Amino acid sequence: TQAASVRIVEVGPRDGLQNEKSQIATADKIALIDRLSATGLRSIEATSFVSPKWVPQLADAAEVFAGIARRPGVHYPVLVPNEQGYERARAVGVEEIAVFTAASEAFNRTNINASIDESLARFAPVMARAQADGVAVRGYVSTVLGCPYQGEVPVADVVRVAKALHAMGCYEVSLGDTIGVGTPGKARAMFKAVASEVPVAALAVHFHDTYGQALSNILACLEEGVAVVDSAVSGTGGCPYAKGASGNVASEDVVYMLHGLGIETGVDLNALADTGRWLAGLLGRETGSKVGKALAAA
Ligand code: HMG
Ligand code: MG
Repeated sequence: TQAASVRIVEVGPRDGLQNEKSQIATADKIALIDRLSATGLRSIEATSFVSPKWVPQLADAAEVFAGIARRPGVHYPVLVPNEQGYERARAVGVEEIAVFTAASEAFNRTNINASIDESLARFAPVMARAQADGVAVRGYVSTVLGCPYQGEVPVADVVRVAKALHAMGCYEVSLGDTIGVGTPGKARAMFKAVASEVPVAALAVHFHDTYGQALSNILACLEEGVAVVDSAVSGTGGCPYAKGASGNVASEDVVYMLHGLGIETGVDLNALADTGRWLAGLLGRETGSKVGKALAAA
């Protein structure tokens, strides 16, 4: 039951940039988002309203969000860890947010200074306000295939947290292999276990490519019916609080694979690859997308 079309959630402006060491100009972040929205992407995670002490790179979240040219039909979710973040986001007109927690206690403590249950409790007032304001909420579960501090993460823990986020009102729950240690068999088993408790239509997958397994893992989950895939243009990214995490799977590579499988994305691959190379130039490195490189050479 492979989906006929897949929605890409482009997380480059947020996950892609949050771990960059040198400060990227606000105008460049805005230009990135506007270039991405011109490629046909329908969901672009724009920034994070987290504590600027924790993620200094995204301290300009309000300026970035206020500066983008919002395209009708495109969703621009932002990360929100607590009510303070919710207020900052709403002040600049955010209409979709993402809350985030993890399947591992140790990672959650390092990333958001809370236990899993504390984080869920912290989201409750955010969810209530979002519901009252008509704001859509996405949920993330991190460390679904391994944790840099705890090692193995039991599938049952992933299922419990995913189910809790869905029950709280997240319209979609994204399952994150934060440190990219997963392999296809494990990814499939994890996805199937979650899908037995949360409708497949409410699930997304979010793979980092640390060990080069991301596309294979996505394919395994596509075979289980997933129809939403998170990725970052040019393969940028990583979580500053996940030791050893590297880039997200590159959006160009995901789109190329999906189109090759006959799955529609609505994304113009050449425009996306151009944007990936433009971003790489801005960051002073080669694109992290093999497809981006191949298309430039073709
Ligand atoms: P804390 O230090 O426990 O919180 O951090 P606090 O409430 O004690 O606040 C500390 C200070 O931060 C205070 O300022 C607050 O006002 C301020 P002070 O009084 O010291 O001047 N503060 C804020 N400022 C602006 N906006 C806010 C906000 N909240 C507090 N929203 C907290 C707890 C959750 C805030 C912190 O740990 C945090 O911001 N963590 C975010 C870490 C992060 O962004 N990680 C990366 C994203 S997750 C990820 O990448 C994984 C994902 O991609 C999926 C995957 O790959 O698995 C999603
Ligand atoms: Mg991530």
